[in-house]
Amino acid sequence: MKKSPDNTYGLRTKAVHAGELPDPNTGASAPNLVMSTTYLADPEANFSVEGLPADAPFFYTRWGNPTVRQLEEKLCALEGAEAAVAFGSGMAAISALFFALLRSGDHLVISDVTYAATAELTNDLLPGLGIRITKVDMSDLDAVAAAITPDTRLVYAETPCNPILRLTDRYPRCGCVGACSRRTVGGRFDLCHAGGHASASPGGRFCAAFADQISGWAWRCGGWGAARARRAD
Ligand SMILES: Cc1ncc(COP(=O)(O)O)c(C=O)c1O
Repeated sequence: MKKSPDNTYGLRTKAVHAGELPDPNTGASAPNLVMSTTYLADPEANFSVEGLPADAPFFYTRWGNPTVRQLEEKLCALEGAEAAVAFGSGMAAISALFFALLRSGDHLVISDVTYAATAELTNDLLPGLGIRITKVDMSDLDAVAAAITPDTRLVYAETPCNPILRLTDRYPRCGCVGACSRRTVGGRFDLCHAGGHASASPGGRFCAAFADQISGWAWRCGGWGAARARRAD
């Protein structure tokens, strides 16, 4: 069987096989753990990640690692996303999403109930950087629509939100980037299919029921580029 399942495979097949190519040197079918932090480098290589093409060879593990890449490809297949990045924690993934998108003068619409660390980020740190925040009940799409302004850059939902488990059924339409984080144990991987442009998940919560690991993932879904480029009308 092909080791890189396309969309015709079901979720369970993708969970087992996606991203796991046999080792090209030994033919080993189980993924190797690559512990190296650095890789053979071209003498002309640039020590900056700026302008690095997506298909550049591995260079430094913070930028990319073969074992982590396999996880990212599996997560991508499960989520139906264009790209995924794995992080050391859920908050690292969520913070990366905010800092990749938001600049001084931008406006963020966010769920009025979120995980405590996300709330702290949006109570203090982001406003201190000149980012305006409006918190709304994301289960009320009219309230979300009313909160959107021409400066709104990101609409961020958390579903089921932590701690009260209120649901946001759908990504609100916003003319900007719609992103979502989730708090579920054994929940579904389908936030990209639900119409968002990006999503992030605390991996420890989602896959390990807070038992024995912390991780975080961020996905880029279809329409990200266009949504990133435009603001609300
Ligand atoms: C909704 C939500 N976001 C973010 C986090 C933070 O994840 P981490 O502890 O891996 O940083 C959690 C943790 O439970 C969470 O439930």
